[in-house]
Amino acid sequence: MSAEERKSFEAKAQVRFSAGLAEVAAAEDELRHAHAAKDAAAAERAARRLRDGLNDVSSGAAALRAFAEGKPGPQIARDWFRQQMNLPPDAVHPPSSGLFGLDWIHLAAMAALATVSLLLMVAYGVRTRRAAALADRLVRASATAGATPATAKVESVPTPAAAPVTVPTVPTTRPEAAKLWKGQLRVAAIFTETPNVRTYRFREIGGGPIPFSFCPGQFMTLSADIGGKLIRRSYTIASSAAQTSYVETTIKREDAGVFSEHMHRDVSEGDILDVMAPSGAFTFTGAESDSVVLIGGGVGITPLMAAVRYLCDIAWPGEIFLVYGARTTEDFIFRDELEHLQRRHAKLHVVASMVRATGTSWMGPEGPITKALLADTVPDIASRRVHLCGPPGMMAAIRAILSDLGVPAASIKTEAFGPARGAVPPPGQTLVVELADKALADQPVRPAEPIAAIGPATATIRFAVSNKTAPLAPDQTVLEAAESIGVPIDYACRVGTCGTCKTKLVEGKVTMEIDEALSPEEKSDNIILACQAKSIGNLVVQA
Ligand SMILES: Cc1cc2nc3c(=O)[nH]c(=O)nc-3n(C[C@H](O)[C@H](O)[C@H](O)COP(=O)(O)OP(=O)(O)OC[C@H]3O[C@@H](n4cnc5c(N)ncnc54)[C@H](O)[C@@H]3O)c2cc1C
Ligand code: FES
Repeated sequence: MSAEERKSFEAKAQVRFSAGLAEVAAAEDELRHAHAAKDAAAAERAARRLRDGLNDVSSGAAALRAFAEGKPGPQIARDWFRQQMNLPPDAVHPPSSGLFGLDWIHLAAMAALATVSLLLMVAYGVRTRRAAALADRLVRASATAGATPATAKVESVPTPAAAPVTVPTVPTTRPEAAKLWKGQLRVAAIFTETPNVRTYRFREIGGGPIPFSFCPGQFMTLSADIGGKLIRRSYTIASSAAQTSYVETTIKREDAGVFSEHMHRDVSEGDILDVMAPSGAFTFTGAESDSVVLIGGGVGITPLMAAVRYLCDIAWPGEIFLVYGARTTEDFIFRDELEHLQRRHAKLHVVASMVRATGTSWMGPEGPITKALLADTVPDIASRRVHLCGPPGMMAAIRAILSDLGVPAASIKTEAFGPARGAVPPPGQTLVVELADKALADQPVRPAEPIAAIGPATATIRFAVSNKTAPLAPDQTVLEAAESIGVPIDYACRVGTCGTCKTKLVEGKVTMEIDEALSPEEKSDNIILACQAKSIGNLVVQA
């Protein structure tokens, strides 16, 4: 600063000091008057004026002092600023020993911060890539789930008047959903549902996620060596398809039922079972329609429960009506869970009817499921998709009721649970085979396992690959005939839904009560379901 500039600043500081002093004096006077007049507002104004005056005095004095001490301009400004900000006076810092004039502590802190930022950026990158891969997987999975399998015969359902709802993706249906997985699972837990129904929770042996995907309503096939014979039975996966750490089947103990008795009697927690899964087209994922009516009886509730659990898990926005019939309140499977789910999900409507409820505290409907009950429970039932599963008699009765109520046959999906034909004869029943063709009497007929038939044979069946021939009764399936002479044909459900027993018909004509597992192309290519195919004429099959 030149001497001239210094003089000019000194003069300005002097002026500021004097003006501040005059302001303080005037403000003090004003403050006294305000106090005397008890005028608070004026006192406030005077106090503000006093503060401004003091500030001018203080800054003017600071500048004069600095000039008197001969400090440089920047130092004067810094001192004034520090004073205003209540900061301690300038300390003299030793020259920095680190890089770029920064000390080492400073540099270390910056390096640590930079490392943390870098790690966070890497983590973000990895997370984004994993999220993108997951989203991709789900898109492919929902495409798989949304596609109607060729064999499923899922008829189109009339579009209801209500506005369409957005259907979430099926999270558990991974791309490999369509593949049949064969392996072993461990029974992790067993729960008693009713006096003769138990739930078996299966886990992957190593404890990881279940190694296959499935849709709600599909089933798995369990097999076991019972009395020296390999027996297989199919059981619906009743747990939610959104649950990937376990699958559950709920099994009713049938009187004299070979497999169900084995499960109830011999199988304990920790046991390992042979499993094939998933199979079946009796599925409902929420993509098929915007509401669903589930009607079931007895243990036929299992595929319906699989849908209820899954739809509740994904907070499906459609209306779900479950109409269930049980013999007694004791036999009402999943009662507690359904009551709980109904409390939580406004769109779930459960109505149960007990065939016999006398002597109990049951307040709901009694007797079999009637037309009036269905009409009262499900508004506009004719426009909704219906899934039906239960004992054969009940299914036939409900079908007739649904038809009366105007539900088109195409809107009704059903599943029958068996019994598995020909698996085991009822107690006391023995194989009766009469050969119509005397020439066939010389053929070796070696029953591999007892079969549950059979009237007199009226035809023959030749297995082209095995080069064996057997008599064939009108009521006997190709599978039963094959088993009777030890021709191996693989099977699972024995009710025409899984397709495991597909075989080619080389000659002859067959009828099949259920052919759900066959696509139109397979039918035109003479592929048959051995567990369903029957004939009154001679047959040749490729097995
Ligand atoms: C797709 C599908 C899903 C299924 N889901 C379930 C489920 O979730 N829960 C469930 O409990 N069951 C389910 N089942 C039924 C199950 O597969 C078995 O059929 C059932 O457990 C009976 O098998 P079992 O070996 O105990 O009885 P079986 O030994 O096969 O006998 C069944 C009953 O029928 C009688 N019987 C057997 N053969 C004959 C015959 N030739 N003539 C007359 N009577 C006979 C027996 O005395 C017995 O009472 C399902 C079936 C299918 C096809
Ligand atoms: S065994 Fe399943 S369709 Fe024949």
